[in-house]
Amino acid sequence: MTADRDAIAAAARCLKGGGLVAFPTETVYGLGADAANGEAVARLYAAKGRPAFNPLIAHVANLEAARKLARLSADAAKLAAAFWPGPLTLVLPKLPDCPVADLALAGLDSVAVRVPAHPIAQALLAEFGGAVVAPSANRSGHVSPTSAQHVLADLRGRIDMVIDGGPCPVGVESSIVSCLTEPTLLRPGGVARGDIERVLGHALTVAAPDEAPLAPGMLRSHYAPKARLRLDADAPRQGEALLAFGPNAPQAATALNLSPRGDLIEAAANLFSHLRALDASGAASIAVMKVPREGLGEAINDRLARAAAPR
Ligand code: TXA
Ligand code: MG
Repeated sequence: MTADRDAIAAAARCLKGGGLVAFPTETVYGLGADAANGEAVARLYAAKGRPAFNPLIAHVANLEAARKLARLSADAAKLAAAFWPGPLTLVLPKLPDCPVADLALAGLDSVAVRVPAHPIAQALLAEFGGAVVAPSANRSGHVSPTSAQHVLADLRGRIDMVIDGGPCPVGVESSIVSCLTEPTLLRPGGVARGDIERVLGHALTVAAPDEAPLAPGMLRSHYAPKARLRLDADAPRQGEALLAFGPNAPQAATALNLSPRGDLIEAAANLFSHLRALDASGAASIAVMKVPREGLGEAINDRLARAAAPR
């Protein structure tokens, strides 16, 4: 449904009835279910084909609602004040009476909480009135969806409804910071690490990649297109499609540029849709030009490395 008042009302009703609703956030489209309804959460895992050990992010409308799920340390409160609503997820100790179904938390004592800024996500959360768990609205292991068309390409027939709010402005998933002990970056994402560190007043600890799946969605071969990816390419080889970045892109028969002017924010917004489009071209391999690592470049390079990982 096109995003309007009727769509929001229908979506909230659908969630209340245990249904699955895909909706836009500023990062990527999420596949929502009533966080308190274990059966709905089970259906959500089934629709995604997601390993059941992978815990979900609980989305709420504001800080007050977040405080009903989890305890915020002083650092967590600082980050929430600075970046909510927005593309930041905080992993927090859950309260004893946290209403989120155990299945959605994969049995952990912590809960990942996010207050999205997208007006449609905000309207849906306000109308629904409770927490909505929502992973990215793609089949497990596929590229995250940044449009309603992407959602349908992966999940048509497996979910109840999609609210079409156009393309997602940020385009990569939220940054995940664990605030269980010292603030630790579990997943680089839509808020640049430097901005988080400025608010904390010190450097973030970064989760060692080989440590237990702290953020289990960080599996090495996540975000995989069908084509192979060749990273840090200067030019495409015979038969390769090209994912370019910046003004000095070489010629190629099949090419898309993440940002012809070399802007990392624009590149993040285009990342998943360009990967999907090049994959759909049928090329067996995609040559990817170097993308700088500063700012949102950290999240972009992280997703590209995962998409390129052997599987
Ligand atoms: O931008 C986003 O975060 C999107 C939109 C829809 O909000 N959601 C998203 O969800 O990316 P998902 O399920 O694709 O990724 C959530 C990540 C996973 O890596 C999961 O393992 C991690 O969050 N996570 C969830 N709960 C956790 C917890 N208690 N401790 C550590 N990691 C957790
Ligand atoms: Mg995902």
